[in-house]
Amino acid sequence: MPTKSLERWNNDGAHLEDLLKKAGYTTTLQYADNKVDQQITQLQNMINQNAQILVVASIDGTALGPVLDKAAQQKIKVIAYDRLINATPNVDYYATFDNYQVGKLQGEYIVKQLGLDAGKGPFNLEPFAGSSDDNNAKFFFAGAWDVLKPYLDSKKLVIPSGKKLASDADWKNVSIDGWSSQKSQAEMDNRLNSFYTGGKKVDAVLSPNDSLALGIEQSLESKGYRTGAGWPIITGQDADLANTKNILAGKQSMTVWKDTRALGDQVAKMIDQIVKDQPVETNDTKTYDNGVKVVPAYLLPPVVVTKDDVKSKLVDSGFYTASKLGL
Ligand code: GAL
Repeated sequence: MPTKSLERWNNDGAHLEDLLKKAGYTTTLQYADNKVDQQITQLQNMINQNAQILVVASIDGTALGPVLDKAAQQKIKVIAYDRLINATPNVDYYATFDNYQVGKLQGEYIVKQLGLDAGKGPFNLEPFAGSSDDNNAKFFFAGAWDVLKPYLDSKKLVIPSGKKLASDADWKNVSIDGWSSQKSQAEMDNRLNSFYTGGKKVDAVLSPNDSLALGIEQSLESKGYRTGAGWPIITGQDADLANTKNILAGKQSMTVWKDTRALGDQVAKMIDQIVKDQPVETNDTKTYDNGVKVVPAYLLPPVVVTKDDVKSKLVDSGFYTASKLGL
């Protein structure tokens, strides 16, 4: 797993390891503190310990070619977890959520809430994208931008910070490395200081995930924005605890929830199928070309969560207890 400092990976690792242990597998779970070299060393150690299957949520999906060559020499199977591994033939399967759909849901939410589809506008939008080394970030941004771009073209949406985003290929112009809350807060501070003077207000922020949204929300508050009228539409992803509480408090508008338990369940199933030499279940054999081959994938559906359905979606499903959310 990439890091413990981004909340969801703790859930991912714990759930998957628990499932595998219960199924009788010997497991090694490692976190790499968002350091690529550390992750490569961890993989090399697992290969030296004769692991049969590697499940890898990569930090930089383009950096694992050499170590996975070694895995292939030992006929070790590799499952890319949540994030695609690129530029190598030595990845067998990919399990994730529909990453493009995540962004599409965020874009559609902004359109609906602002009433852009009803001809309203113009509105001030500030877009952000995820970490430049994360293959998912490209898909999140493309999904959102394909929805929002027509409104930028019609000037119903404007970007006062002037970020150059002629197409979704420009996503790295607004990427925040490491998915860092501190960096997103600093970036938002800078935009507000430089481009939002004379009473100009932000109407919407495209935040690709919750850790970035948290920094952005702290920046807005520090610049005098207050929840209620005048607080911008803010998107998110992952249903992190602090952000879910912010949604209940009106400080974030939505998050795209990806039930990490379902992803763990699917990967555990894939591992069983590999070990029993059965066909491995996939439902997308077209989308995820890693530059060397199209990796057969299993995509899970992401779900929008707002203030109105935190209980029905996150509490009733057991993802959070009501008391944990202060409900
Ligand atoms: C992405 C992942 C998101 C988000 C982000 C930061 O790859 O799909 O769920 O967590 O990383 O960890």
